[in-house]
Amino acid sequence: MEHGESILILDFGSQYTQLIARRVRENFVYCEIHPHTFSLEEIKSYNPKGIILSGGPMSVYDEGAPAIDAEIFKLGVPVLGICYGMQLVARAFDGNVEPAKDREYGKANLNLLGESILFEGVPDNSVVWMSHGDYITKMPDHFRVSARTTNSPICAVENEEQKIFGLQFHPEVIHSEYGKKIVNNFLFPICGLTGNWNPKNFITQSTAEIKEKVGNSKVICALSGGVDSSVAAVLLHEAIGENLVCIHVDNGLMRKNESNDIVKMFDDHFNLNIIHVDATKLFLDRLEGVADPEKKRKIIGNTFIDVFEEEAKKFDDAAYLVQGTLYPDVIESVPVKGVSVTIKTHHNVGGLPEKMNLKLIEPFRELFKDEVRAIGRELGIPADFIRRHPFPGPGLAVRVLGEITEERLNILREADDIYIKEIISHGIYDDIWQAFAVLLPVRTVGVMGDFRTYENVIAIRAVVSTDGMTADWFRFDYDFLEIVSNKIIRNVRGVNRVTYDISSKPPSTIEWE
Ligand code: XMP
Repeated sequence: MEHGESILILDFGSQYTQLIARRVRENFVYCEIHPHTFSLEEIKSYNPKGIILSGGPMSVYDEGAPAIDAEIFKLGVPVLGICYGMQLVARAFDGNVEPAKDREYGKANLNLLGESILFEGVPDNSVVWMSHGDYITKMPDHFRVSARTTNSPICAVENEEQKIFGLQFHPEVIHSEYGKKIVNNFLFPICGLTGNWNPKNFITQSTAEIKEKVGNSKVICALSGGVDSSVAAVLLHEAIGENLVCIHVDNGLMRKNESNDIVKMFDDHFNLNIIHVDATKLFLDRLEGVADPEKKRKIIGNTFIDVFEEEAKKFDDAAYLVQGTLYPDVIESVPVKGVSVTIKTHHNVGGLPEKMNLKLIEPFRELFKDEVRAIGRELGIPADFIRRHPFPGPGLAVRVLGEITEERLNILREADDIYIKEIISHGIYDDIWQAFAVLLPVRTVGVMGDFRTYENVIAIRAVVSTDGMTADWFRFDYDFLEIVSNKIIRNVRGVNRVTYDISSKPPSTIEWE
């Protein structure tokens, strides 16, 4: 896609690199993240209006530490180096960097020294977030110190004339009180951008491109009802109307009424061409007697492909398949030391395009989830639908622990429905990243009236998170927990105990399987 103005973020392996990109995009400025190995030639042809060097886990004097071609400072493009990025700036201009005795981590107060465009509108003494183990001991040539903290006498440096800036702290992290303002100053007064990367423009541009690419061919969409596939379907419908065929597969593992609600939403608000396939029986037959979580995922993934392929065959004139791939799935990551192991395999519609000989359309390859949500709202998808918590592809199969039966799915559906409705009616749904109930594979003893019961246990889970990679359990009021527990035990037959999951991720995961 043609983006016009763009910022380049060079990634040196910081855990915050994607946050930098989100801060830039929040200002309606397009940006891309590329690994630090992106060459000078590639940078030139990318033609950025500004460059941000991210932080990173290494020290600039470590053996094998990623370096930078000093030529980038001669391109006449403003540069902002953050943390490791600032050490690189210092080194490039003959400064000196040394390891600190103690690693500085956490909040500090920023004292401004003199006037700086980067700190315009930032009051003296604001809180910033530090996370580094090195500091500058000799100033780079032609730079001045523009801010300090108690422990970092050189906390920000700048060469105003060449528009090169370095920050020891992380403006992209929300704990940096005026971080947004600092990023904003870099983008507008310093890089001179206009900020025209917004949902409206995205829709106009991408529908035009899709139209051009697809022509009169048919496009198939696997409409799960999740945010990404839903927004993709509506966008494609804007672009090519009747030539979009949506297939919604009900795998029998959705929440209470969910499949019907999804189809109804699209019927009520949009004139989408949706084929609603109820494949519950096939999925549940194939899952019978299976307790292992990874086996469940595999069966569900394969069955989905079988059902989808069977339906899609009816449209043998289709040439494309839409996928809601997001930018975080596409960003080439900077390798970090150590091995990564598969904790859970996540099922999506991978494998389908090759098998069916379809070409892919991925309209959100360059977008973050919050941007897809904003586009969904702009396209008129109801806000309640857009703000829903994430829901895993294998659905309730990984929330009915152990073997799955229709009866156990229904117990879980009722409990989950009560729990989520309470969260909504207490006005806390948007404070939570993800909330759901889990049916445990054990029974416990209870007493109801004068009788002993021996029934199921429901665990409820609610977490806060920004991306699902790490998560903390949500602090409900005790009164809220009491209401939910009572309602579930009173109303759901077969449940006599409710527990609340107070584990964070890591070491636990969000889902139980
Ligand atoms: P975990 O349980 O790994 O979950 O901490 C992180 C996020 O991923 C979702 N999740 C899945 N999504 N297929 C999916 O599409 C899966 O198999 C799957 N397993 C977990 C989970 O709901 C959470 O949002």
